[in-house]
Amino acid sequence: MTKTILRALAGETLPTPPIWMMRQAGRYLPEYRATRAQAGDFLSLCYNSELAAEVTLQPIRRYGFDAAILFADILLLPQALGADLWFVTGEGPRLSTITDADGLARLKPIDEIDAVLNPIYETVRILSRELPKETTLIGFAGAPWTVATYMIAGKGTKDQGPAHALREENPEVFDALITTLTKATIEYLSKQIEAGAEVVKIFDSWAGSLKGEAFVKYALEPAREITQALKARHPGIPVIAFPREAGDGYIGFAKATGADCVALDNSVSAEWAAANVQVDGCVQGNLASSHMVTGGQDLVDETRRICKALSNGPHIFNLGHGITPDADPDNVQRMIDTVREG
Ligand code: CP3
Repeated sequence: MTKTILRALAGETLPTPPIWMMRQAGRYLPEYRATRAQAGDFLSLCYNSELAAEVTLQPIRRYGFDAAILFADILLLPQALGADLWFVTGEGPRLSTITDADGLARLKPIDEIDAVLNPIYETVRILSRELPKETTLIGFAGAPWTVATYMIAGKGTKDQGPAHALREENPEVFDALITTLTKATIEYLSKQIEAGAEVVKIFDSWAGSLKGEAFVKYALEPAREITQALKARHPGIPVIAFPREAGDGYIGFAKATGADCVALDNSVSAEWAAANVQVDGCVQGNLASSHMVTGGQDLVDETRRICKALSNGPHIFNLGHGITPDADPDNVQRMIDTVREG
């Protein structure tokens, strides 16, 4: 096994951590903006397999990252289940909402999602042919809770209030939505793996707003179900879980779910993660994405600090959240040089 990302995910401590970056194909890159303009808009880009593969490859060509992440979005799955989805420039996603049993009943059967998602599998197939042999291809989906927060509110929310309200006021409908999303996510990721994804990542961006029992029931448990089902169907497939802002919930998350790696946001310190999370296996992430905007010596110092703190166990270097459109592409190169210079 030569790919460094797969070695780290298998638990190997490498002298230099492999690197990739959340949202590495994105608006901070002029070549991404040009291809998006060619496609028309963001969603048309996601469903245009050739162009989606092209933007996935752009940061690999420019920087030589060790992994490429499929270019798509976590909200394509609700769209495939029948939700209307559109993006408002400068504001973010909008969806038709699900707030009751009728809304739930209107969702399409899970065996119909591929009619919408086939172009995504085609993007994966193109990438598995075209990526350099040392580059690992990562597929992904949103975690059921995070996807549900968008389906219930119809947009991104600061505190996920509408989803919490439905969870408390109508647990039957809420639980049924989580179950549907869990099953659909297993099918979606399974197809990505069949098409050539070598690793899958489950993005639970809003896991941090679930506390106590609710965290276990709606963040940990679906991640466990998805991970176990994928590993039963595709023995050995590595899974990265990202229960963002889980805090103490990061402790034991990999063990409890069966995930091979836990992705860390930047609200926990690398030293804390080394002592409490990396003891169970590979960790990824942690550099604040703001450093990609501000750069300078702070970027170098913080990059070195994270590498050092996590140097005694398996580690994949990454940001704590996606790179933002105002980031300077030169700062990305500086981060990579700092990691690779050791
Ligand atoms: O990481 C990657 O490069 C892979 C592709 C990817 C995108 N979105 C592309 C994208 C991945 C893995 C995602 C995940 C995603 N999408 C999450 C979970 C991770 C996170 O960021 O917390 C969420 C919550 C979404 C939903 C979503 N998509 C939002 C809220 C937005 C708007 C906010 C924003 O950053 O503009 C998007 C749009 C989106 N998804 C863009 C990209 C490159 C920007 C679209 C554009 O080009 O205009």
